[in-house]
Amino acid sequence: MDDSFFNLYYRPEVDSTNEWAKELARSGAPEGTLVVADTQRAGRGRRGRTWSSPRGGLYFSLILRPSIPPELAPQLVLLTATCLHRVLRRRHLPVSLKWPNDVVARGDKLAGILVEAGSASRGLSFAVVGVGVNVNGPPPLEGATSIETITASPQRKDQILQDILGEIKAGYLAYLKEGIEPILADYRQGCTTLGREVVIFGSHGKAKAKAIDVGKSGELLVEYPDGCRGWVHADEVSLRIR
Ligand code: BTN
Repeated sequence: MDDSFFNLYYRPEVDSTNEWAKELARSGAPEGTLVVADTQRAGRGRRGRTWSSPRGGLYFSLILRPSIPPELAPQLVLLTATCLHRVLRRRHLPVSLKWPNDVVARGDKLAGILVEAGSASRGLSFAVVGVGVNVNGPPPLEGATSIETITASPQRKDQILQDILGEIKAGYLAYLKEGIEPILADYRQGCTTLGREVVIFGSHGKAKAKAIDVGKSGELLVEYPDGCRGWVHADEVSLRIR
């Protein structure tokens, strides 16, 4: 790839591109280091889930080193989700965002994002932004879909990767200058969770609520049936849309 921001590493098969990128980040790899694999033996999702990674999907992780406090790392999920949404919309795919990190098409999962942060005493030392997109082949799981399934034609993964990286680079540089607000405005527009009835599964069991808004740190504002409002954090809950 001819782009001075990215420094590309490729392997046909890895355990997890996020694990590989974290190793590189801990040994000092600079911002823009990008690792890509054709398949993952142990792809990981949010909240300890596995990410099914057959050949045909796109799996990559990008090292970023923004000067932000660790608690703002979820902003990088908003940023990446918004960039994926823009790129896939441009390709006329019927995608929307499901809070916090899912790209869905007609209710089925098309892509997911896993941001993992490494912190130092003075703030975030690195963030690894991991992205999985079901591109070619049948849906890897029930409740998932792939671009090939939606369009009924096989896709060029290299072009999709290039589009996504171009959008992430532009979005990230804008984020460093302007902050999260412009991204957040787009994220809210694309987010199908907002205004919907949801079930929140947290450490204290499950609760019904209505999703109201997404905050600047990526948290979700919900309203419970008694009218009380509260913020829920992505690392603490999972969500089902009712
Ligand atoms: C989720 O939806 O829970 C997040 C899924 C993130 C999957 C990607 S695939 C590339 C990178 N490497 C991993 O092990 N996970 C992320």
